[in-house]
Amino acid sequence: MEKKWWQSSVVYQIYPRSFQDSNGDGIGDIPGITKRLPYIRELGADVIWISPLYQSPNDDNGYDISDYRAILREFGTMEDFDRMLETAHELGLRIVMDLVVNHTSDEHAWFVESRSSRDNPYRDYYIWRDPKDGHEPSNWGSCFGGSAWKYDEATEQYYLHLFSVKQPDLNWDNPKVRDAVFDMMDWWLRKGIDGFRMDVISLISKDQSFPDGEPESSGYATFNCAANGPREHEYLQEMNRRVLSRYDIMTVGECSGVTLEEAKKYANLDGRELSMCFQFEHMGVDSDPVAGKWTTKKLELPKLKEVLTRWQNGLEGIAWNSLFWDNHDQPRIVSRWGCDSPEYRERSAKMLATCLHMMKGTPYIYQGEELGMTNYPWGSLEEFNDIETLQNYRQLVEKGILSPDEAFEAVCAKSRDNARTPMQWDTTEQAGFTTGTPWLPVNPNYREINAAEALSRKDSVFYYYQKLIALRKQMELIVYGDYRLLLPEDEDLYAYTRNLGDEHLLVVCNFSEKERSLRLPETFINGWVLIANYDAAPGESVVIPPYGAIAIFSKN
Ligand code: GLC
Ligand code: CA
Repeated sequence: MEKKWWQSSVVYQIYPRSFQDSNGDGIGDIPGITKRLPYIRELGADVIWISPLYQSPNDDNGYDISDYRAILREFGTMEDFDRMLETAHELGLRIVMDLVVNHTSDEHAWFVESRSSRDNPYRDYYIWRDPKDGHEPSNWGSCFGGSAWKYDEATEQYYLHLFSVKQPDLNWDNPKVRDAVFDMMDWWLRKGIDGFRMDVISLISKDQSFPDGEPESSGYATFNCAANGPREHEYLQEMNRRVLSRYDIMTVGECSGVTLEEAKKYANLDGRELSMCFQFEHMGVDSDPVAGKWTTKKLELPKLKEVLTRWQNGLEGIAWNSLFWDNHDQPRIVSRWGCDSPEYRERSAKMLATCLHMMKGTPYIYQGEELGMTNYPWGSLEEFNDIETLQNYRQLVEKGILSPDEAFEAVCAKSRDNARTPMQWDTTEQAGFTTGTPWLPVNPNYREINAAEALSRKDSVFYYYQKLIALRKQMELIVYGDYRLLLPEDEDLYAYTRNLGDEHLLVVCNFSEKERSLRLPETFINGWVLIANYDAAPGESVVIPPYGAIAIFSKN
């Protein structure tokens, strides 16, 4: 297998609105990112994925783009962007841009034209359909609640929007759309960016007959109808041929609804499509058959192990995995599958990091994860900003799926806003994020949990991540070794090995509050501890405290 730089990289994700404000307007911006690049360098990550920086009316915080070649005013100017890119490159950091081309904003010039008349040259840039028996053309639901079809009075047709009504889906079957998107991608690549993270790229090709889904097919269930459509791979291969293959870049597709079989195409090592893709199966193991992700159901560890193991082994030698717990759409992992009480927060954050970063694939760290940042203590619904949270809350209650109390508890646990509260830099007012009023409140725990504190203490979560990243850079075993699960049924321990030639690694992570002991497999009895989040003294067996994690290396 030919080795690629992005296989041994670690990616750090920035959500620009919440990272660092530089001018006191309460909104993070590009000069703020530039100022903090050395912090990311210090951590050791070498690629940065930045959520959308483009012009947008912010119906979905930048994932609704009205001009792909302009920077959002609030974030700065194109000069600020160029300076950031240059500074990053000087520091040896690569920049990967978000690419949101399943849909645009309804304020994008293409859509303004498209909706103006049925014979406008841009009409077919989007997906317009006549009413079916006086109703929506199909029963597809929007991920943010309600129907995925919006009736437009002016031309008496519906347009498709898998997300908000202000995010009309582009019609990829129109070659002019593909030309325009590829041109735009080329324009950014010529500026010198290092790749793209492709937003819901698995949804771009739709079955043009728009078949109805399950009767309850609403929200994310629509992915069952819309994901991995008939011409999906044809379009990605065309994109690859015409654009991607001409640059030395990395690409990661956000592949909502992707199956293992599909991922073998998206992320194949033959390089015909993308470098890797995000799958979401492991993020769904604690969801509910009816309420979907909107539940406080506990994690069942054997399920998580089954899913991750299937992906680790299923892609082995065929395609490349990406590894993540957190991003701007997920609650904070330490609150979700670790324990955010003062006693166990740091140890469980390190345990989760160990479990993920010792696996095979390219790991992603979401801003603040390296500090063990937690969910926000929400007091009322009014405090939320996110469109997905607010619309789903309303729908769950209206449909009687959850009571108002249950729905509130669920959004507190799962809202995307948990990830979007400002980055906690230090103990000054507003955690050093802004000198003004932040657009979303700072978590009150910033006096204990912040970057300055973490940098001042050698046993912090930050330095633990730094060590995990450094190990990946030093050891091919961590990058290229195969993966084998141990103890599949164990409800507390996640244990696996990695193996490359005569090198072996045993990783054991305790997801519970119980102390557990484990007899070591023969190979590891005289091994040495590569990393652990407690004072480990293994002999023939290890005793692992609550949320403990250990990785043992052996060569034989
Ligand atoms: C992706 C993004 C999410 C956004 C959605 C629509 O899932 O990660 O933040 O709301 O696409 O663009
Ligand atoms: Ca600002």
